[in-house]
Amino acid sequence: MNDKYEEIYNRSIKDPDGFWGEAAEDITWEKRWDTVLNAENPPFYRWFKGGLLNTCYNAVDRHVDDGYGEQDAIIYDSPVTGGYKQKITYSELQDQVARLAGAISTLGVNKGDTVIIYMPMIPEAIMAMLACARIGAIHAVVFGGFAPKELSERIDDCKPKLVLTASCGVEPNRTIDYKAMLDGALGIATHKVPNSVILQRKQQYSALVSTTDHDWAEITKAAHAIPCVMVESDHPLYILYTSGTTGQPKGIVRDHGGHTVALRWTMDNFYNVKPGEVYWAASDIGWVVGHSYIVYAPLLNRNTTVVFEGKPVGMPDAGTFWRVINEYNVKTLFTAPTALRAIKKEDANGELTKKYDLTCLKALFLAGERCDPDTIHWAREHLHCDVVDHWWQTETGWVIAGNPLGIKNFPIKLGSSTKPIPGYDIQILNDQGEQVPPNELGNIVVKNPLPPGTMLTLWGSDERFKQTYMDRFPGYYLSGDSGMIDEDGYVHIMSRIDDVINVAGHRLSTGAMEEVLSGHKDVAEAAVFGVEDALKGEVPMGLVVLNLGVETDIEEVCAELIQRVRSIIGPVAAFKSVSSISRLPKTRSGKILRGTIRKIANGKEWAMPATIEDPAVMTEVIEGLSRMGYPLSDIDKVV
Ligand code: COA
Ligand code: AMP
Repeated sequence: MNDKYEEIYNRSIKDPDGFWGEAAEDITWEKRWDTVLNAENPPFYRWFKGGLLNTCYNAVDRHVDDGYGEQDAIIYDSPVTGGYKQKITYSELQDQVARLAGAISTLGVNKGDTVIIYMPMIPEAIMAMLACARIGAIHAVVFGGFAPKELSERIDDCKPKLVLTASCGVEPNRTIDYKAMLDGALGIATHKVPNSVILQRKQQYSALVSTTDHDWAEITKAAHAIPCVMVESDHPLYILYTSGTTGQPKGIVRDHGGHTVALRWTMDNFYNVKPGEVYWAASDIGWVVGHSYIVYAPLLNRNTTVVFEGKPVGMPDAGTFWRVINEYNVKTLFTAPTALRAIKKEDANGELTKKYDLTCLKALFLAGERCDPDTIHWAREHLHCDVVDHWWQTETGWVIAGNPLGIKNFPIKLGSSTKPIPGYDIQILNDQGEQVPPNELGNIVVKNPLPPGTMLTLWGSDERFKQTYMDRFPGYYLSGDSGMIDEDGYVHIMSRIDDVINVAGHRLSTGAMEEVLSGHKDVAEAAVFGVEDALKGEVPMGLVVLNLGVETDIEEVCAELIQRVRSIIGPVAAFKSVSSISRLPKTRSGKILRGTIRKIANGKEWAMPATIEDPAVMTEVIEGLSRMGYPLSDIDKVV
């Protein structure tokens, strides 16, 4: 007899209409859908077509209407600003979101318009997202750690009617002038943004000189609260830019209907969280984890969500996560493995966990990068709760493989993110598109259709969506990850198949960094690759070839290159090592052998590629790496 997981999983694959139609009953619809799955135009699948609803209504107003207005919706805890704390009930949230929605409407933002949100981790950032959703405007949140140039590219791509920002963000060692960064971006962008709204924070005020700058407090005070605008199920809720293989970011588009249904479903079935409980995703709203699990899913499920502005360490010590859990009775914590590694580094024996009663914590969920077994062991030993490594992506918006605690708590296998989640028919294909047997590595794909809540397309480019994700293996979504499924059906994610790296859980493109390096006047060409790092998982490193006849001091150029990546992409890229060599290793057809460089830099065995133009160049690569602190012993690993 099938167990509960198999029954649910099999039904989701064989009868998606029945499965997701049932899940959609948990959502309030203004008008019910005509079809659950619309497959008229593959690979552009649409969910709940014909339905009308509003995500903000389901995340906020619905709970007030149901009598839960006095429940806390948000707990804001900000150790980085000296310990500021605030609780916001669902009624208060409704009022503030409705007034902000009124304010942005008066600035000409209507259904279908795009709005960029460039804000630190404060409750107003969430209100901004919900206010856009409320009126059917499409938000595009840009992470604060990105530099003005990156912000300007996103402005030019989605052409917003409005930007919402704050006067500053606060990092442990400095205040970040968001307004100045925005002004920098607006100066570079071709698209002219008609208006900006700036929230003044007491850590740093911004002078609002331009007539297009509006003070957040003033315009919301003057505004009327407005109700939710009901939108079509497939109306875009948001765009979230993520890194691809080139410097041009990809705008993942998510809908109202499918997203609302899927996220609400995950709270009970995957995270095993019930309405009323406190849920904390220690991430940033600039990333997909923040969108889905700081903002939308917990609010849709009537949880209290924790908005944490700070770092896992140094606030004042590495016990701040445990303080928050204890203080607010957090049942579920979701974070990136890198955060735990940072804590573990400072508190190897978990002494700080003993200072707090953590019995309220029932589960820790980790995602964003491959989780190393040591971190899982440490967490299990010191937190005494379920520890779940789960795999997902900006593109899917929610978990693809994991241990679905709400359905069945599987025994875990270290190095695996456990089982495919209902809705995802995960398969492993070789490069010829054939399914491979268990335990064999290959391309991880998902058979179409993807479930509700996943990407609709790429903003402004259906063609790029098809090319990037759907054309490689017709009928399947290409995840960009490689891995295997073992004999017990456990999914193992091994690595990316493209030039994307994960730095402290932040997804970055090595291609974009190469473009920045090559843009320096003295650089002829560049290769950037990810190198394993004990804290951040991976960090980028570069080798450049300088133009012939460059007279400048090489060290000076390298320092300029590091600064250049920091100021064009942002400090979050953590690009700190680059070295110059006289040529890069290439195939005879001129392709840079990044894979081989990466293996050497990571101390892995490597073979002299058969297609290499001149094997002697590898000695230069090794010398270049050793100048960046890499052991020359790696040369012994040639096989
Ligand atoms: N605005 C501006 N700058 C930012 C920023 C923001 N929102 N977030 C990070 N930065 C800057 C940092 O100040 C730092 O600058 P520095 O080089 O001058 O020190 C740089 O970007 C790198 O930041 P970060 O990745 O946070 O590294 P860190 O060394 O400061 O801290 C960790 C290391 C592990 C503690 C931290 O990366 C962390 O908490 N990670 C959790 C990751 C996470 O939540 N990922 C989301 C996916 S689930
Ligand atoms: P992002 O879109 O920023 O969430 O990054 C998604 C990528 O991060 C995936 O394609 C994987 O490469 C990686 N990733 C996320 N979660 C995991 C995990 N649990 N195990 C291994 N890799 C992961």
